[in-house]
Amino acid sequence: MVGTVETKAAALEFVRAAALAPSAHNTQPWCFEVEAGRIDLWADRTRALAVNDPRDRELTISCGAALFNVRVAIAHAGSLAEVASFPDPREPDLLARVTWTPSAITSPDAELFEALATRRTYRRKFTKDEVRHGVVRALALAAEREGAWLRVVETVSKRHAVSALVAKGDELQWIDPSWRRELALWMHPRRRGDGLGLPDIAVPVAQLVVRTFDIGHGVGVHDRELTDEAPVLVVLGTLGDEAADWLAAGQALERLLLTGVRHGLQASYLNSPVQVDSLRAKLSHLVDHKGFPQLVLRLGVPSAEVPPTPRRPLEDVLFEPRALA
Ligand SMILES: Cc1cc2nc3c(=O)[nH]c(=O)nc-3n(C[C@H](O)[C@H](O)[C@H](O)COP(=O)(O)O)c2cc1C
Repeated sequence: MVGTVETKAAALEFVRAAALAPSAHNTQPWCFEVEAGRIDLWADRTRALAVNDPRDRELTISCGAALFNVRVAIAHAGSLAEVASFPDPREPDLLARVTWTPSAITSPDAELFEALATRRTYRRKFTKDEVRHGVVRALALAAEREGAWLRVVETVSKRHAVSALVAKGDELQWIDPSWRRELALWMHPRRRGDGLGLPDIAVPVAQLVVRTFDIGHGVGVHDRELTDEAPVLVVLGTLGDEAADWLAAGQALERLLLTGVRHGLQASYLNSPVQVDSLRAKLSHLVDHKGFPQLVLRLGVPSAEVPPTPRRPLEDVLFEPRALA
């Protein structure tokens, strides 16, 4: 690899890895400016979720996850990545500049590479398999390495309290017609390559149902059950609540998810108590950690294979699509 990693072609491979990251509503709110030996990661705020995520908090977390994937791909290519977060104070949308140099030592992050393509957001019930304490500890360490914190919700009473907040959050979101309209807008046919991909034929009906009916109670009951039964339930948070903290949270999220995949786990999100302002403080009080909850996740062993969610073509995430030429 030494000698080839500084080409533009190598950089494009790293972007390909970045695009596999999870993102809220599968918005893929990122854009990459690619040079030989350098990738600039920009927030694409045209893909923001104004109702669900008014401060672009989850947008920045999603970009942080993509940034972590770039780091993993660089490690896998045998190079050492250097990341400058928010390198230009005049450009708040420029989230990170990544450069790299060939290295004789392989970073342990290279081991996470295989998991990039097999990680899934797994929304079904998990098997009843217990997750070993050592694995849960590895997840916490993964988050902490990236500057976030992780609280494992263990006691039955706390778990019920969190699941009650999730159900309440679902109800408060679904009652809001503008929140439902925004969700419906991101229900796209799979071939579009973004959004919550559905078969072509299902899109109009699904959009109509979501726009028209408040099914928050039913969603809440379902999420409550998933929360109560989760083999592992965690809250990921940060000490601050600004863009730099969100970018760190995204990197922590992706390190945690990929670490989980290596141990046979997948994850899904129960974020409504973080997204609804009035519930976030209650969640914070419940988990009793200094700072700000950013994400609520359940993890476990999946009981079935789920197909990958679609992604946009590479040229759509490049600042300068001619970079592909
Ligand atoms: C910051 C963030 C927030 C998310 N919030 C939710 C959520 O509230 N509910 C949910 O089902 N999925 C949520 N997701 C998962 C995305 O929907 C998922 O990543 C996307 O559809 C792509 O699918 P994949 O993760 O399987 O690649 C979130 C992902 C991120 C990064």
